[in-house]
Amino acid sequence: MRNFIIDCDTAEDDIFSLFMLLHNKVKVHAITVVEGNVSFPVEVQNALWASEFSKRFFGEEVKVYPGMERPLVKDFKTVENVHGKGGIGDLTLSSNLKPEGKHAVDLIVELADRYPGELEFLAISPLTNLAMAYLKDRTVVEKIKKVWVMGGTINGHGNITPVAEYNVWVDPDAAKIVFNSGFDVTMVAWDLITQFTINEEWEEIKGLKTELSEMYVKFYKHYREFAMTYQKMKGNPHPDLITTAVALDERVAKRVEKFYVDVENCDCSTRGVTVIDYLGVLGREPNVNVVLDLNKKAFLEDLYSLLRR
Ligand code: BDR
Ligand code: CA
Repeated sequence: MRNFIIDCDTAEDDIFSLFMLLHNKVKVHAITVVEGNVSFPVEVQNALWASEFSKRFFGEEVKVYPGMERPLVKDFKTVENVHGKGGIGDLTLSSNLKPEGKHAVDLIVELADRYPGELEFLAISPLTNLAMAYLKDRTVVEKIKKVWVMGGTINGHGNITPVAEYNVWVDPDAAKIVFNSGFDVTMVAWDLITQFTINEEWEEIKGLKTELSEMYVKFYKHYREFAMTYQKMKGNPHPDLITTAVALDERVAKRVEKFYVDVENCDCSTRGVTVIDYLGVLGREPNVNVVLDLNKKAFLEDLYSLLRR
């Protein structure tokens, strides 16, 4: 069985990513929470709600470990305009569960120790927790088998600045550490996933009339309207869910190539940009598996399989 940690700045797409992992019967050892989309307490609350729901629906309890509340160096901003005040539009999710007392960074180090060569880290969020775990104990690099990252751009089309993607922009110093430390990283970029939105399928999903499909429509409504109104998209994007599908189903990433990728962390207009050396002009060893094309049919099959459950 595959072993995962899911690292979230818990909004709608993060929650459905957890559901997709559980639907596919991998072992999810923890939800680690990190700064990002909305206020930290709301992100933790959303994660607890997702955990409680998962216990009932998937029969799996996943514990929630709050982690870093701020990036390593510079401050950041949350994006309630994108995901809504509660990260899921206007919905407020509540739960009776409590978060674990152990810090997410300590937990990551501990789990890497317990499952050397087996643990996979799904980062659908800024990379602060993983970078901190590495700074605390550098041996996590050899122990963590794979790092799946939703972040960066492959063609320079950003979402938080003209050229930078949000997760990497929030903590470019952390992303720089993770990319340059020898982790086996696969990156799914923002300007790739924007080409694979849910368009006319939205009505079809409404028609499925299952518990999860109804929740999907409720949870993604705000994000869909934002994307179609302000981001010139044909439908709602799935940055986190596509990254999860890439991790789970080898059909989803249609083309992957390994390049040297660095991260710009200057205090300048290109802060947070992923600098991909496509031609190898820097002569550096390639360090990141960059997903360059996706198979929408395979992703849809995975999404529908989840929603029909
Ligand atoms: C990423 O940032 C957040 O808005 C989403 O959760 C996703 O992980 C997209 O840039
Ligand atoms: Ca996310």
